[in-house]
Amino acid sequence: MKISIVGTGYVGLVSGTCFADVGINVTCVDIDEKKIENLKNGIIPIYEPGLETMVHNNSEKGRLSFTTSIKESLENTDVIFIAVGTPPDEDGSADLKYVLEVARQIGKNMNHYMVVVTKSTVPIGTAQKVKAAITDELEKRGVEVDFDVASNPEFLKEGNAIEDFLKPDRIVVGTESEKAEKMMQRLYKPFLLNGHPIIFMDIPSSEMTKYAANSMLATKISFMNDMANLCEIVGADITSVRKGIGSDARIGNKFIYAGAGYGGSCFPKDVKAVIKTANDNGYSLRVLKAVEDVNNDQKHVLVSKIKEEFGYNLDKMTFALWGLSFKPKTDDMREAPSLVLIDELIKMGANVKAYDPVAMEEAERILGDKVEYGKDPYEVLIDADALIVITEWPEFRIPNFKVLEKLLKNKVIFDGRNIYDPEEIVENGFTYYSIGRKP
Ligand code: UGA
Repeated sequence: MKISIVGTGYVGLVSGTCFADVGINVTCVDIDEKKIENLKNGIIPIYEPGLETMVHNNSEKGRLSFTTSIKESLENTDVIFIAVGTPPDEDGSADLKYVLEVARQIGKNMNHYMVVVTKSTVPIGTAQKVKAAITDELEKRGVEVDFDVASNPEFLKEGNAIEDFLKPDRIVVGTESEKAEKMMQRLYKPFLLNGHPIIFMDIPSSEMTKYAANSMLATKISFMNDMANLCEIVGADITSVRKGIGSDARIGNKFIYAGAGYGGSCFPKDVKAVIKTANDNGYSLRVLKAVEDVNNDQKHVLVSKIKEEFGYNLDKMTFALWGLSFKPKTDDMREAPSLVLIDELIKMGANVKAYDPVAMEEAERILGDKVEYGKDPYEVLIDADALIVITEWPEFRIPNFKVLEKLLKNKVIFDGRNIYDPEEIVENGFTYYSIGRKP
């Protein structure tokens, strides 16, 4: 089989590389010449554990190639995936200009049957727009070429993307023809060995599934954060409550960790987009609006605790920050709770010294010298007034309390991810603030 993937962003590059890894002949396409040149030389544009080696191995074996030409990639291709960006418009809806431009390019150049699949997270109705754009271009050329459109949303988690792709919980495919369904079934066969299903449905349901999945996950988090805030008020502990409810299989023990809010390129964007879709159709998604509100407030929760400890005047104080990325195992800073925290601290006159195992370069690109960066977790503690943990990187989990005590001006820790045992911290003489737990 031969496939093409347009867009070498997160989803496109991971998908292309994993398809190549099971022996499929893959061409990845991007308009960014520099990116393609780099990829040809084994330099990958994102941080994702294991990806670089996999790109290298599959390129060497000749199964994975890179080009800037959609036309070239269409040669002998059975399936072409559109995995380009859909950045949010000002009003929160997904901007489809890149997706539709790719569709037009396909229509301008296709000469044999293929399945055109949208893999980017796209609003309901996008596959039909892709179909219309391709048909329009074919008509302009005065040729008739048979093709099908399909929707195949992606459920990868950053930092765990390869594992998620190779061993998916499920694969969702929306199709409108048996021919396309058979083709997709064949393509995904190597990934279904662990017994998890490929679920076929109509195209609008498949497009909706992606939004519903991310919305449900975001809802779980905002629900737990709301409960955590109440736990603090009534003297309960969210960790115990989490264990108490998570043992009920109907609720499940995954994705119910309270913290300083969810971030990333997906949940905030998708929640906004689906609220907008509903509004556009005269319906109000009341639960999701509350999910968004709770999350916006939750990103400020650590600042409230800092004010509780140090008062409102943080002028000239220095805070050591452990973590910058929106979650561990990625350098992605999009919608990261750290950005809201840093912004508020700086507004209140404080200085921030930050350390992150992989996201400092990205942080510097966004924040410049607003923040001072340290070369290891302990360096940023020197003369800092307190420590704030915002991303739960494994290397922050067992700190050396003796060193912390020596370097920090005050023995105070603000933990936005509940990674420490409150008893242990208090035994070591520290004042400890976390989310929804007793100190
Ligand atoms: C998310 C989904 O989990 C993927 O299934 C989906 O494919 C992806 O979006 C996407 O749409 O592309 P991702 O954004 O990589 O993946 O990150 P997650 O691991 O889901 O974490 C999202 C945020 O939720 C992070 O800020 C994390 O800290 C927070 N979170 C997660 C919590 O606060 N509590 C939890 O219990 C779990």
